[in-house]
Amino acid sequence: MCGIVAIAGKDEVAGRLVDGLKRLEYRGYDSAGIAVAAEGGVERRRAKGKIVNLQERLTENPLKGLTGIAHTRWATHGAPNETNAHPHMSGSVAIVHNGIIENYRELREDLEGRGRKFESETDSEVIAQLIDAYMEEGKDPVAAFEEALKHFHGAFAIAAIFSNDPELVIGARKGSPLVLGYGEDEMYLGSDAIALAPLTRDVTYLEEGDWVVLRRNSFDIRNVRGERVNRARVTSAVNDALIERGEYDHFMLKEIHEQSESLARSIMPYINQATQTVSVPEAAETLFADADRAVAIACGTAFYAAFTAKYWFEQIARLAFEPDIASEFRYRRPVLPQKGFSLFVSQSGETADTLAALRYCRENRTPAIAVVNVPESSIAREAASIVPTHAGPEIGVASTKAFTAQLSVLAVLALSAAKARGHLLPGDEMNYVRSLLALPRKVTEALECAGQVREIARHIAGKRDVLFLGRGRYYPLALEGALKLKEVSYIHAEGYAAGELKHGPIALIEKGLPVVVVAPKDELFEKTISNVEEVRARGAEIILISDAAGIKAAGKRADHVILLPDGDDISLPILSAVPLQLLAYYVALTRGTDVDQPRNLAKSVTVE
Ligand code: F6R
Repeated sequence: MCGIVAIAGKDEVAGRLVDGLKRLEYRGYDSAGIAVAAEGGVERRRAKGKIVNLQERLTENPLKGLTGIAHTRWATHGAPNETNAHPHMSGSVAIVHNGIIENYRELREDLEGRGRKFESETDSEVIAQLIDAYMEEGKDPVAAFEEALKHFHGAFAIAAIFSNDPELVIGARKGSPLVLGYGEDEMYLGSDAIALAPLTRDVTYLEEGDWVVLRRNSFDIRNVRGERVNRARVTSAVNDALIERGEYDHFMLKEIHEQSESLARSIMPYINQATQTVSVPEAAETLFADADRAVAIACGTAFYAAFTAKYWFEQIARLAFEPDIASEFRYRRPVLPQKGFSLFVSQSGETADTLAALRYCRENRTPAIAVVNVPESSIAREAASIVPTHAGPEIGVASTKAFTAQLSVLAVLALSAAKARGHLLPGDEMNYVRSLLALPRKVTEALECAGQVREIARHIAGKRDVLFLGRGRYYPLALEGALKLKEVSYIHAEGYAAGELKHGPIALIEKGLPVVVVAPKDELFEKTISNVEEVRARGAEIILISDAAGIKAAGKRADHVILLPDGDDISLPILSAVPLQLLAYYVALTRGTDVDQPRNLAKSVTVE
């Protein structure tokens, strides 16, 4: 949420800062701005809306200088307009900020009491004002920054430049990620390694509470106590090719089509091909054998992945498994398992609520396993054991390939738990492993429905509401289908457990209402079809997503059918995600919404 880039450079920085911002635009796109320090002082350009608007501003009115900071915003405090856009300036300092300064009101009142005038409604402006206030008292930029930092409560990443020391950049992180990059005679800061990919892959992930003073030829990392510290220098796995759109019109479509590879990459590390068995990190396996209960915490799509896993953990591993929404869990003082474990699912590994929930579990001595897509992320670093997904960078704001990667890794974990608990016969394990290994090929088959889904999408695009129904392991998929549709097309969509219909939602059914039913032929299929009959009788239009056996059995009870490849209780929920994603994409395309950057959303939700 909000993206930061900073360069202490040997060459002009404005264009390169904008390039970095474009890579971070997925983190927020309400407004953008850059500030550059040169001998003449610090100058900034800002614009409401997307980064192209900032580029136009810079073409009309260029900025020259070798040191600069840049920001793309997802508004928390203050409307998304130019005045509230970053960088914020006060006296000789300019700052960019990602996160929330929770005590900004008190700080602002205090500073206003001392005669300081604020120009924006943001929490971020107090950062510039407080640093400047310390500089007015005679402190140099580093001492002023360090002193100001002690007063900020909340989660943040900050980068600052100074007109009285135009080669200096200072950055800090607490709660929000910040990466230090090493170039040739240059140093960089970025919210993530993706922003820095064209500049360098040689990076350091700053740790909680770290702050860093950099110039183009030097850097000095301090910890929260102000002590000089060494942090590991690593080569980031992100390369440019991974974050290009290639032949596709949108990242979302590219990422949907990449699922064959992203699934293969995510599954293979946990399969022993010679023995056709699953194998997960030992630390996780040890927790499974004796567990009496597990809690699984996540947000949004990642929560629906955890929810799907409930069916696998309970039915195959016979382990009580309670998925929970992180923003609820963290404040409820939940009772944690005595002998069990907690599981955290997150693509970014930075989601503020999920991270807070993880810290609650740690404080209460419940071991935490993290299923994350970014191995350097905060959640990955703070969990006792990590079981990474290898979906690769996901740029489209709507999660697609990360979701199926999460499902596949959760499936492996459930199988491993089943084995550790003595509930999986070797023959069954082999069958499941074969089914997992076939998933990449089957996803390619599932993608063949794209043309047909596009036709159905044209029809749905004019509707006001859409219902999604599923039972058992397909209920979370119905929820995910509804979420995907609403976030990219802005059509109102709800997912329901098919058996819940009669308890209220059936009142919504009217002639022509599209009802998407996710129902491959399993032990609950007939029950779902009874619910289909009930909504059909009231005029709903049925779009059935099912395998060949289900489509045959449904006969004429579906108005449209979308065929899934054959599979089992693990592979079919994963395969069902594909048409749901395509449906959301094509409806959005028909309606002309901004598919990769839907309104009001940001990819990495680092504020609660
Ligand atoms: C929806 C979506 C979000 C995320 C949620 C959690 O398409 O992407 O619902 O799933 O914000 O994010 P992570 O997985 O990064 O913790």
